[in-house]
Amino acid sequence: MNITLVVAASENNAIGKDNKLLWHLPKDMRFFKNTTWAMPVLMGRKTFESMGNKLLPGRMNIIITNQDGLKIEGAHVVNSLAAGVELATKNNYKELMVIGGGQIYELAIPIANKIWFTRVHTHIEGDTYFPALDKTWNLTSVESHQADEKHLYSFDFECWQRN
Ligand SMILES: NC(=O)c1ccc[n+]([C@@H]2O[C@H](COP(=O)([O-])OP(=O)(O)OC[C@H]3O[C@@H](n4cnc5c(N)ncnc54)[C@H](OP(=O)(O)O)[C@@H]3O)[C@@H](O)[C@H]2O)c1
Repeated sequence: MNITLVVAASENNAIGKDNKLLWHLPKDMRFFKNTTWAMPVLMGRKTFESMGNKLLPGRMNIIITNQDGLKIEGAHVVNSLAAGVELATKNNYKELMVIGGGQIYELAIPIANKIWFTRVHTHIEGDTYFPALDKTWNLTSVESHQADEKHLYSFDFECWQRN
């Protein structure tokens, strides 16, 4: 199973505060939708709540929690990363998209081989951060976008990979 992380982080790696995102970047939201569409997406229980307890349409939603017996209509609830990977494998997927948040990126990064990383060009305080990438990761592509009337910050779509 290929494990791919999808994240948007500031230059100081902040990803969220008060269980919300730190910016509104419509092009990044579109990129996220296109990248994860029709794929299994695995998220922490808090990230699910941060989306107003709404499932992502057109994707197999897998929510990870330590709680026993948590049921979320339309979603698959698992108690471990391994169980999420197993579920995606059983459903014949070759790639699992890990979509946050901070705790779940920390959990999944040791077994990930790709990161779609939107680098948002600002320094901003958060209460949730993405882990620093070590030297095993290679930057394989970058697409830059300028700030404009709909995008307060400039940002890059980066792809990071490792074998
Ligand atoms: N910028 C981005 O790309 C991005 C993406 C996603 C989220 N975010 C932001 O990130 C923040 C949320 O992140 P977060 O770190 O607070 O929470 P999170 O990672 O979304 O979810 C944490 C929850 O996951 C469960 N969990 C954690 N480790 C587990 C394990 N080993 N086994 C089973 N379950 C486990 C626990 O759920 P229970 O408490 O139910 O046991 C835990 O409370 C929000 O601000 C959100 O907006 C940003």
